[in-house]
This record gives sequence, structure tokens and C-alpha cells, in this order.
Amino acid sequence: MLPFSSGSILLAPMVGITNRAFRTLLEELGSPDYAFTEMASAEAYIANAPYESDYTDSNPKPDRTSVQFYSRSAASLAAACSKLRNNPFQELPAGVDINFGCSAPHIRSKGGGSAWSSDPDLAAELVSAARAAWPGILSAKIRMGPDEDYDRLLGFCRRIAAEGLDFLCLHPRRDDQKFKGKARHEYSLRLARDLSCPLVANGDITEAAQISMLTGRQRAGAAKGEAGASTHTAGADAPGAYAVMIGREAVRKPWIFSQLHALGSAKSAIPTPAQSIDRLTVGLRFLALAELYLPEAWQLESARRFFSYYCEQFSFAHHIKFKTMNSPSLSAMAETFTAYFGNVPEDRYCSLDH
Ligand SMILES: Cc1cc2nc3c(=O)[nH]c(=O)nc-3n(C[C@H](O)[C@H](O)[C@H](O)COP(=O)(O)O)c2cc1C
Repeated sequence: MLPFSSGSILLAPMVGITNRAFRTLLEELGSPDYAFTEMASAEAYIANAPYESDYTDSNPKPDRTSVQFYSRSAASLAAACSKLRNNPFQELPAGVDINFGCSAPHIRSKGGGSAWSSDPDLAAELVSAARAAWPGILSAKIRMGPDEDYDRLLGFCRRIAAEGLDFLCLHPRRDDQKFKGKARHEYSLRLARDLSCPLVANGDITEAAQISMLTGRQRAGAAKGEAGASTHTAGADAPGAYAVMIGREAVRKPWIFSQLHALGSAKSAIPTPAQSIDRLTVGLRFLALAELYLPEAWQLESARRFFSYYCEQFSFAHHIKFKTMNSPSLSAMAETFTAYFGNVPEDRYCSLDH
């Protein structure tokens, strides 16, 4: 049984962002139904490289988090899964996710991420090796691959899913697209219909209406605490994707899960006074959590990445992004960020449904 119900809203893996500090911030603001760590190298993890226990730290909710690995070989991935499973110094996460989607040149050129999409048999070996070594939830995250050929994509997904995946996440852009164009969710819907494995749709999701369109369910079905409440039906009866996954919008609005869950709860028919979000407090809280939970060497870079998205919706987004990105320390960043709201007080509060 999956640790989240159909219609759930998941947090996408994001390098430098979905670490313990950010996931803790989300827990405090209204958490996703399930989350992913940022990608970790299977080879580095088994070699005890520095910070690997931080990359694979599944706190604060190990039972609702998958550790994502990218790997150059089936043997390394199997060894990483075994180490994660038997590591007495780490919390056991609910799942392992295999990264088949990263198209960053430094990952692809080493044979990781989306490099696997050109070889379904080798990719299937990777899944099979992980399945043999990992008894928990096993998933994979993919892009569309090198082209827009649906039959090739379906063949690839069926091939890897057959090796024992519990679910599959699709970001429907080609490998070479990065974030250009729009996510092609017509592919998500077709795959959800044609695969027997639950599909999680990801890419450009920002609103409840998109979630309803993709999952074919009103948001009420995704209320929290209903894990496993409904089952996925493949084929013509499947209304759409099993669940959705949100990445960048969760950094722009870390309260988005609370907002979407409120819309999906039975109470949504009853108007309630809009709650207010203090964007200054949320930003400062992230800095405090980064200091508390991240290795010192990561703190500034992670805060820069966070603010590069978080500031996007501010009136003077370019200005405040530039100022925070160039702050030499967390405390200088906090000062700069606080000063912004002295100059632009109207940006400080927004309603929860903003
Ligand atoms: C800064 C950043 C880092 C990312 N790192 C990862 C990663 O580690 N693993 C992964 O599978 N995808 C990664 N992605 C892709 C996201 O998981 C997601 O597929 C993509 O952002 C599309 O979803 P969105 O439109 O909701 O942001 C990253 C995306 C961003 C913006």
C-alpha cells in the first residue's frame, strides 16, 4: 500500500532546496502528503563522501519521505539501498526514488539521470537491482525522454514499472527542454490511463483546478490522514493521475500545501476568514532552520536558492533577489530581507489563498 492516498499532493525533489530545513518549514506551515529529498549520488553515498548523511536525511517525517538517488550502475544503486536500509545512524525513510529525469550535463555525462532514458533494458536492470535490495516504497522520476514519441515513452515506463515500482513520477518535458515551454500534461493523462502503475504528475502545477483536472477528482479526496483510502484503477476506469507533485511553486509559496488541503477539505464549502501569511517571518524562519539543520557549508547556498524562488512574487523581485543572493552570510541575508519590508511594507502580508 502506498503511504499516500489518491489525489494527494507531493513535494518534488529539488537540489539545494528540499533538504531537512525546507521540509521542516513545510511541516510547520502545512505539509505535503509525501516528500522527496534532493537527489543524492548512490556512488558518493556508499563511499561515505562528505555530507552524504545530510543528503539522505529524511527527517522530519521519514515515514512520509523518499530518498532520491541517481546512479551510474545497478550495483551502486543496490549497494546504496542496502546501506540506507541497514544504517544504524540514520532514520529509515519510507522510500527510495530513482532519478531518471535529471538532464543536468554533469549528471548525464556520468551516465546518471536522464542518460538512462535511451536504454530501457539497462534502466530496468537498475530498478530490478534496487527492488531486490530495498523492501520499502520504490519509485522512479522521469522526464519524457529525448523526444515526444508517446509509444517509446509508454514502452520505457512499462519496462521499468514491471521491475517492481510502486509508483512513477512524470515531469512531461523533453530531456533537452530544462524548463522551457509548458509541461505536456496530455502525456501525463495518457500514461495514467495506459500504465498499471500509479502515476504522479509533475510540472507547472500551481492551482487546485489543475490538480482536479489531472487527478479527475475534486480536492476533497486528498484530505490528509486518508492514506491508502482509495485504490488506483488502471485502464479506462482510471480518472487521471494518481497524485500530483509540486516543485518550484512550493518554494515561492511554502504554505501552498496548507492552502490546497484547505480547499480540498469538506469545510471548503463554508467561507472562513482568509488567514494571513507573514512573508517576512516565513523567510526568517527558513534561515533559522537552515542554521539549525544544515551543515555549515550548505547554509548560505541553500538560502540563496530558497530566496531566488521565494522572492519571485515580490513587487521588486529582481532587486530583493539580487540583494539576498549577494549577502555574504545568513545574518546579513536576514538583515537585507528584513529591511526590504521596511521599504515595501505592502509586500509583507498576503492571504493564505494568495
Ligand atoms: C532548483 C531545482 C532543483 C531540482 N532538483 C531535482 C532533483 O534533485 N531531482 C529531481 O528528480 N528533479 C529535480 N528538479 C526537478 C523538479 O523535481 C521538478 O520535476 C520540476 O521543477 C518541475 O516541477 P515544478 O514545475 O513543480 O517545479 C529540480 C528542479 C529545480 C527547480
